[in-house]
Amino acid sequence: MATVTFYGHSCFSLSDRTHTLLFDPFITGNPQATLPASDIHADYILLTHGHSDHIGDAVPMAKQRNATIIASFELAKYCERQGAKVHDMGIGGSYKFPFGRVKLTQATHGSAIITDDGIEYLGNPCGILVRFNGRTYYNTGDTGLFGDMALIGKLYKPEIVILPIGDNYTMGIEDAVEAIKMIKPKIVIPVHYNTFPVIMQDPYVFVKKVGKLARCVVLKPGDTYEIS
Ligand code: NI
Ligand code: MN
Repeated sequence: MATVTFYGHSCFSLSDRTHTLLFDPFITGNPQATLPASDIHADYILLTHGHSDHIGDAVPMAKQRNATIIASFELAKYCERQGAKVHDMGIGGSYKFPFGRVKLTQATHGSAIITDDGIEYLGNPCGILVRFNGRTYYNTGDTGLFGDMALIGKLYKPEIVILPIGDNYTMGIEDAVEAIKMIKPKIVIPVHYNTFPVIMQDPYVFVKKVGKLARCVVLKPGDTYEIS
Protein backbone atom coordinates (compact mmCIF):
# COMPACT_ATOMS: atom_id res chain seq x y z
CA MET A 1 0.00 0.00 0.00
CA ALA A 2 1.35 3.41 -0.97
CA THR A 3 0.14 6.85 0.08
CA VAL A 4 0.46 10.28 -1.48
CA THR A 5 0.64 13.21 0.96
CA PHE A 6 0.31 16.74 -0.39
CA TYR A 7 2.20 19.57 1.33
CA GLY A 8 1.09 22.47 -0.87
CA HIS A 9 2.14 23.92 -4.25
CA SER A 10 4.06 21.08 -6.00
CA CYS A 11 5.36 19.35 -2.89
CA PHE A 12 4.13 15.85 -2.12
CA SER A 13 5.49 12.60 -0.83
CA LEU A 14 5.05 8.99 -1.87
CA SER A 15 5.36 6.54 0.94
CA ASP A 16 5.10 2.84 1.69
CA ARG A 17 6.18 1.05 4.86
CA THR A 18 9.83 1.18 3.83
CA HIS A 19 10.57 4.34 1.83
CA THR A 20 9.39 7.92 1.63
CA LEU A 21 10.09 9.95 -1.50
CA LEU A 22 9.57 13.69 -1.21
CA PHE A 23 9.14 15.81 -4.35
CA ASP A 24 9.94 19.53 -4.71
CA PRO A 25 9.94 20.44 -0.99
CA PHE A 26 9.07 24.14 -1.09
CA ILE A 27 7.89 24.48 2.51
CA THR A 28 9.54 27.55 4.03
CA GLY A 29 7.81 30.57 2.52
CA ASN A 30 5.08 28.45 0.93
CA PRO A 31 1.81 30.15 1.87
CA GLN A 32 -0.01 26.80 1.46
CA ALA A 33 2.24 24.81 3.79
CA THR A 34 0.51 23.52 6.91
CA LEU A 35 3.59 21.88 8.48
CA PRO A 36 7.14 23.06 9.07
CA ALA A 37 9.83 21.30 7.04
CA SER A 38 11.12 19.73 10.28
CA ASP A 39 7.89 17.66 10.53
CA ILE A 40 8.20 16.16 7.04
CA HIS A 41 9.93 12.83 6.57
CA ALA A 42 12.02 11.91 3.53
CA ASP A 43 14.50 9.19 2.58
CA TYR A 44 14.93 10.60 -0.93
CA ILE A 45 14.20 14.08 -2.24
CA LEU A 46 13.39 14.30 -5.95
CA LEU A 47 13.60 17.66 -7.72
CA THR A 48 12.00 18.48 -11.06
CA HIS A 49 13.93 21.73 -11.57
CA GLY A 50 15.81 24.49 -9.79
CA HIS A 51 13.20 27.23 -9.39
CA SER A 52 12.93 28.34 -5.78
CA ASP A 53 9.32 27.13 -5.47
CA HIS A 54 10.64 23.58 -6.16
CA ILE A 55 14.17 23.32 -4.74
CA GLY A 56 12.80 25.06 -1.62
CA ASP A 57 14.09 23.38 1.55
CA ALA A 58 15.66 20.46 -0.33
CA VAL A 59 19.28 21.03 0.68
CA PRO A 60 18.81 21.59 4.44
CA MET A 61 16.21 18.80 4.59
CA ALA A 62 18.53 16.37 2.79
CA LYS A 63 21.41 17.24 5.12
CA GLN A 64 19.33 16.91 8.28
CA ARG A 65 17.86 13.56 7.22
CA ASN A 66 20.92 12.18 5.40
CA ALA A 67 18.52 11.84 2.47
CA THR A 68 19.71 11.65 -1.14
CA ILE A 69 18.63 14.33 -3.61
CA ILE A 70 17.80 12.90 -7.05
CA ALA A 71 17.89 15.51 -9.82
CA SER A 72 19.27 16.34 -13.25
CA PHE A 73 23.04 16.74 -13.46
CA GLU A 74 23.41 20.52 -13.11
CA LEU A 75 20.81 20.82 -10.35
CA ALA A 76 22.26 17.84 -8.46
CA LYS A 77 25.76 19.32 -8.65
CA TYR A 78 24.42 22.63 -7.33
CA CYS A 79 22.89 20.78 -4.33
CA GLU A 80 26.12 18.82 -3.84
CA ARG A 81 28.07 22.09 -3.67
CA GLN A 82 25.73 23.13 -0.84
CA GLY A 83 26.66 19.94 1.04
CA ALA A 84 23.84 17.53 0.14
CA LYS A 85 24.24 13.89 -0.84
CA VAL A 86 23.04 13.60 -4.45
CA HIS A 87 22.37 11.23 -7.32
CA ASP A 88 22.62 13.04 -10.65
CA MET A 89 20.77 11.88 -13.76
CA GLY A 90 19.90 13.07 -17.25
CA ILE A 91 16.70 13.28 -19.27
CA GLY A 92 15.86 9.92 -20.84
CA GLY A 93 18.01 8.08 -18.33
CA SER A 94 16.69 5.75 -15.65
CA TYR A 95 18.24 4.20 -12.56
CA LYS A 96 17.04 1.51 -10.18
CA PHE A 97 17.05 2.80 -6.59
CA PRO A 98 16.22 0.60 -3.56
CA PHE A 99 12.58 1.81 -3.77
CA GLY A 100 12.22 1.39 -7.54
CA ARG A 101 13.20 2.88 -10.86
CA VAL A 102 13.33 6.60 -11.60
CA LYS A 103 13.41 8.04 -15.11
CA LEU A 104 13.73 11.71 -15.97
CA THR A 105 11.60 13.00 -18.81
CA GLN A 106 11.54 16.28 -20.68
CA ALA A 107 9.55 19.27 -19.47
CA THR A 108 9.09 22.53 -21.36
CA HIS A 109 9.96 25.12 -18.75
CA GLY A 110 13.05 26.81 -17.25
CA SER A 111 15.43 25.93 -14.42
CA ALA A 112 17.46 28.59 -12.68
CA ILE A 113 18.05 30.01 -9.26
CA ILE A 114 18.46 33.67 -8.39
CA THR A 115 21.52 34.26 -6.21
CA ASP A 116 23.22 37.44 -4.97
CA ASP A 117 25.38 37.24 -8.11
CA GLY A 118 22.43 37.12 -10.48
CA ILE A 119 20.84 34.16 -12.19
CA GLU A 120 22.39 30.69 -12.18
CA TYR A 121 21.03 28.25 -14.76
CA LEU A 122 20.63 24.71 -13.51
CA GLY A 123 20.24 22.63 -16.65
CA ASN A 124 17.02 21.37 -18.14
CA PRO A 125 13.77 21.12 -16.22
CA CYS A 126 12.39 17.59 -15.95
CA GLY A 127 9.40 15.44 -15.36
CA ILE A 128 9.92 12.36 -13.20
CA LEU A 129 8.60 8.85 -13.79
CA VAL A 130 8.82 6.64 -10.72
CA ARG A 131 8.09 2.97 -10.36
CA PHE A 132 7.06 2.65 -6.71
CA ASN A 133 5.19 -0.04 -4.80
CA GLY A 134 4.02 -1.77 -7.98
CA ARG A 135 2.73 1.38 -9.75
CA THR A 136 4.11 3.93 -12.15
CA TYR A 137 3.78 7.59 -11.20
CA TYR A 138 4.43 10.49 -13.56
CA ASN A 139 5.14 13.86 -11.98
CA THR A 140 5.24 16.10 -15.04
CA GLY A 141 6.95 18.91 -13.12
CA ASP A 142 6.35 22.48 -14.22
CA THR A 143 5.70 22.23 -17.94
CA GLY A 144 3.71 23.41 -20.86
CA LEU A 145 1.80 20.89 -22.90
CA PHE A 146 3.95 18.88 -25.32
CA GLY A 147 3.07 16.13 -27.78
CA ASP A 148 5.50 13.54 -26.46
CA MET A 149 3.30 13.17 -23.38
CA ALA A 150 1.46 10.71 -25.64
CA LEU A 151 4.69 8.74 -26.08
CA ILE A 152 5.29 8.75 -22.32
CA GLY A 153 1.74 7.48 -21.83
CA LYS A 154 2.13 4.77 -24.46
CA LEU A 155 5.55 3.51 -23.36
CA TYR A 156 5.38 3.76 -19.57
CA LYS A 157 1.61 3.65 -18.89
CA PRO A 158 1.71 5.74 -15.71
CA GLU A 159 -1.36 5.02 -13.58
CA ILE A 160 -1.01 8.12 -11.43
CA VAL A 161 -0.18 11.54 -12.90
CA ILE A 162 0.67 14.64 -10.88
CA LEU A 163 0.50 17.78 -13.04
CA PRO A 164 0.22 21.56 -12.80
CA ILE A 165 -3.01 23.41 -13.57
CA GLY A 166 -2.11 26.92 -12.37
CA ASP A 167 -1.51 28.54 -15.78
CA ASN A 168 0.83 31.55 -16.18
CA TYR A 169 4.05 29.54 -15.46
CA THR A 170 2.77 26.12 -16.58
CA MET A 171 -0.15 24.38 -18.20
CA GLY A 172 -3.52 25.73 -17.22
CA ILE A 173 -6.70 23.69 -16.86
CA GLU A 174 -7.47 23.33 -20.59
CA ASP A 175 -3.96 22.13 -21.49
CA ALA A 176 -3.80 19.85 -18.45
CA VAL A 177 -6.97 18.14 -19.72
CA GLU A 178 -5.27 17.67 -23.11
CA ALA A 179 -2.27 16.17 -21.27
CA ILE A 180 -4.60 13.66 -19.56
CA LYS A 181 -6.05 12.67 -22.95
CA MET A 182 -2.52 11.88 -24.15
CA ILE A 183 -1.14 10.19 -21.03
CA LYS A 184 -4.34 8.25 -20.14
CA PRO A 185 -3.71 7.70 -16.41
CA LYS A 186 -6.22 6.18 -13.98
CA ILE A 187 -5.67 8.86 -11.33
CA VAL A 188 -4.71 12.51 -11.72
CA ILE A 189 -3.66 14.88 -8.94
CA PRO A 190 -3.54 18.61 -9.83
CA VAL A 191 -0.81 20.77 -8.26
CA HIS A 192 0.86 24.19 -8.72
CA TYR A 193 -2.25 26.35 -8.28
CA ASN A 194 -3.62 28.85 -5.73
CA THR A 195 -0.19 29.38 -4.13
CA PHE A 196 0.25 32.86 -5.63
CA PRO A 197 -2.25 35.37 -7.07
CA VAL A 198 -1.18 34.70 -10.70
CA ILE A 199 -1.94 30.96 -10.47
CA MET A 200 -5.40 31.07 -8.91
CA GLN A 201 -7.59 28.24 -10.28
CA ASP A 202 -10.68 26.36 -9.21
CA PRO A 203 -9.55 22.71 -9.15
CA TYR A 204 -13.18 21.57 -9.39
CA VAL A 205 -13.43 23.16 -12.83
CA PHE A 206 -10.53 20.88 -13.75
CA VAL A 207 -12.30 17.89 -12.13
CA LYS A 208 -15.39 18.62 -14.23
CA LYS A 209 -13.42 18.93 -17.48
CA VAL A 210 -11.47 15.72 -16.77
CA GLY A 211 -14.83 14.00 -16.32
CA LYS A 212 -14.56 10.30 -17.05
CA LEU A 213 -11.04 10.51 -18.51
CA ALA A 214 -9.50 9.74 -15.09
CA ARG A 215 -10.26 9.84 -11.40
CA CYS A 216 -9.30 13.35 -10.34
CA VAL A 217 -8.09 13.65 -6.76
CA VAL A 218 -8.00 17.17 -5.30
CA LEU A 219 -5.80 17.26 -2.21
CA LYS A 220 -5.65 20.06 0.33
CA PRO A 221 -2.26 20.70 1.92
CA GLY A 222 -1.86 18.09 4.65
CA ASP A 223 -4.17 15.55 2.97
CA THR A 224 -3.05 11.96 2.44
CA TYR A 225 -4.52 9.79 -0.30
CA GLU A 226 -4.21 6.02 -0.31
CA ILE A 227 -3.39 4.46 -3.68
CA SER A 228 -5.57 1.33 -3.66
NI1 NI B 1 9.19 26.43 -12.24
MN1 MN C 1 6.94 26.31 -10.17
